[in-house]
Amino acid sequence: MLKVRKAVIPAAGLGSRFLPATKAMPKEILPILDKPTIQYIVEEAVRAGIEDIIIVTGKHKRAIEDHFDSQLELELNLKEKGKLELLEKVQHSTNLANIFYVRQKSPQGLGHAIWTAKQFIGDEPFAVLLGDDIVDGEVPAIKQLMNVYDETKKSVIGAKTVSYEDTERYGIIESKSQDGRMYEIDNLIEKPKFGTTDSRLAIMGRYVLTPDIFEYLEEQNIGAGGEIQLTDAIQRVNEVDSVYAYDFEGDRFDVGDKIGFVKTTMEYAMRSEMKDELVPFLKDLIQKYE
Ligand code: G1P
Repeated sequence: MLKVRKAVIPAAGLGSRFLPATKAMPKEILPILDKPTIQYIVEEAVRAGIEDIIIVTGKHKRAIEDHFDSQLELELNLKEKGKLELLEKVQHSTNLANIFYVRQKSPQGLGHAIWTAKQFIGDEPFAVLLGDDIVDGEVPAIKQLMNVYDETKKSVIGAKTVSYEDTERYGIIESKSQDGRMYEIDNLIEKPKFGTTDSRLAIMGRYVLTPDIFEYLEEQNIGAGGEIQLTDAIQRVNEVDSVYAYDFEGDRFDVGDKIGFVKTTMEYAMRSEMKDELVPFLKDLIQKYE
């Protein structure tokens, strides 16, 4: 069995939670401080040793390609003005990785997005990173899953425990057994109705998948929300083979909705040189609105 060398990053979603900001701009380009959220995701894959990345895009997503492309005029301008720190940042995003693009013609769900990357992946295990969560850890979350794959040669899903109230928002994992951070999966249910499962272990946007997943995605079965669900295809793999879940280490930042986005921005700002100015500002703000 091969090593994991390729990653798929689906970025074709409509971004409706951020409308109207996402009317003309991909949600993946919305920045946490000065960096688009998708760059954090690409950086995680690169730090994990991924060589090739395919981003699944759709209509109105050209800005993603532009962001990772070279901008010679801008670079020249920054060089002439001696803004070398900025120049370095601009060039960093260009030279990060080998990035390829495939277009999902209509948004038919996460499973369909992954299926459009089939030609690029071929017959290899591969990583999937969703953009709604930024994970900050010493070892990249996807690398932790790749390590489990290296040991087991089975598909592995990133997982975290969520509150009961939140179970409806996620794919939920029912496990047969647990060994430390690792779970053997019994059942996977995409966005279960509240109260239909006791499990609070949720699928958390990071996967290492074996290529047999494409056999099941090919069938294009419609699942929860009227979409072709990746979770359902993984469940099919689990029926004939073992699939594991791994509760990865690291701070998880949910940037998929407005409140998570604001919280993440605040925490990243507090970690930066802005902290000294922000602390008194936030104290005043709390007094004003409490
Ligand atoms: C997707 C997956 C779901 C997972 C979630 C968070 O849902 O389908 O299983 O729990 O991402 O990673 P979405 O949030 O795109 O609706």
